[in-house]
Amino acid sequence: MMFLKMPRFKKYQLRLISVCFSAFLFMAYWEKIENNIVSHIMSFSYRHLLNRFTFINASLRVNPEDALKYRYLINNERKCADKDVLLLLFVKSSSENFERRQAIRSTWGNETYIEKTLGVTVRVLFALGLHPKPEYRSQLKKELFFEDHRYHDLIQQDFKDTFHNLTLKLLLQLGWKENYCHHSQFLMSADDDVFVHIPNLIRYLQGVGHRNAKDFWIGRVHRGSPPVRDKESKYYVSRDMYPWVSYPDYTAGSGYVLSRDVAARIYQASLTLNASFHIDDVFLGICAKVMNISPKDHLFFSGEGKAPFHSCIYNQMMTSHGHVSDIRETWKRVTEAEVGNVSSGLIRRLYCTVMKVRLLCVPFISNSYPCKAAFF
Ligand SMILES: *[C@@H]1O[C@H](CO)[C@@H](O)[C@H](O)[C@H]1NC(C)=O
Ligand SMILES: *[C@@H]1O[C@H](CO)[C@@H](O)[C@H](O)[C@H]1NC(C)=O
Ligand SMILES: *[C@@H]1O[C@H](CO)[C@@H](O)[C@H](O)[C@H]1NC(C)=O
Ligand SMILES: *[C@@H]1O[C@H](CO)[C@@H](O)[C@H](O)[C@H]1NC(C)=O
Ligand SMILES: *[C@@H]1O[C@H](CO)[C@@H](O)[C@H](O)[C@H]1NC(C)=O
Repeated sequence: MMFLKMPRFKKYQLRLISVCFSAFLFMAYWEKIENNIVSHIMSFSYRHLLNRFTFINASLRVNPEDALKYRYLINNERKCADKDVLLLLFVKSSSENFERRQAIRSTWGNETYIEKTLGVTVRVLFALGLHPKPEYRSQLKKELFFEDHRYHDLIQQDFKDTFHNLTLKLLLQLGWKENYCHHSQFLMSADDDVFVHIPNLIRYLQGVGHRNAKDFWIGRVHRGSPPVRDKESKYYVSRDMYPWVSYPDYTAGSGYVLSRDVAARIYQASLTLNASFHIDDVFLGICAKVMNISPKDHLFFSGEGKAPFHSCIYNQMMTSHGHVSDIRETWKRVTEAEVGNVSSGLIRRLYCTVMKVRLLCVPFISNSYPCKAAFF
């Protein structure tokens, strides 16, 4: 038999090792920590001490006559008509992402399935612009025509569909809701690589809706984020466009929900503000600020990352970001978990807390939900 002989450390040596190890960890994560500290200081001073963003109201104002207007190329005006719609759900898509739309139609965006199993009416629409390369447009036009003829769920306007035009796509969604689906209780906007746990979301909204939701705006909230001034970044914003050091609070554009009154007020504000500010979710935050509306954070709306695959997470998740080829797979697991409905006793709860701590609280393993979601 062999015994492992541990090297013997003196007390001070052990202490030294642990100090070195902590210093190493600290340095490894310094950049993140620093970013956090900076943005928290900014956030604190800007949101609470210096001002309340009243300047935005004056500085970004435009004449409503100058508001940008685009023509509908495809519209489904009657999509919401004659129905008591709980949720109008916009998916921001691009003309060529046919496969993604198909995956969504046959999983979490299946209106028939939702009506049948959850007993509520949800309307799903894909919001599109024009392909940035004109030479692709005529072929895509034909394909979109057939696609829409079959599914009746596209809306398209004649602006160029680029990252820097995302605010125009936001205006498309707000305007469509205002004009054709004013009565829907909630509006959601999501990217086409987001997985929405529609059963969880609907149950949640029904709870909120009972109290006749007002002033309701939920998602992953960014508080007091500073504008990116690095010209290489796609989020770069010039000082001309936004001179201040912090944005108002906003929800990540990958997925958020507004109540009817909030959507209407934000739409009104959007008509009076300079929409050349191209980051759509920040622009929504600016509109909301003008109307004095603030967002509420929900721990299970993912801003960036993909939710860890675990049944303890499925029970609570609302959205998960970064799904392209695995939407069907995830849907299958989620709906099977739904049928199984594992016992929800104390043991199960303890087990899930431990699992969630392991999945969410190890730094930088998962950037989907914050650590505190483990105790939620
Ligand atoms: C949507 O769900 C219904 C009912 O569950 C099903 O019959 C239909 O095939 C589904 N649609 C798609 C595109 O998968
Ligand atoms: C946004 O769309 C408009 C209308 O198609 C176009 O003129 C403009 O160049 C686009 N902007 C960007 C940054 O792509
Ligand atoms: C909106 O802002 C842009 C850039 O900051 C500016 O060039 C443009 O003139 C403004 N539009 C209006 C209508 O004020
Ligand atoms: C923004 O300005 C408009 C018109 O100048 C004013 O009616 C509105 O009350 C202002 N909003 C806030 C939140 O100060
Ligand atoms: C799962 O079980 C719990 C408690 O047994 C119950 O309250 C809940 O409604 C069930 N959920 C589903 C989707 O069946």
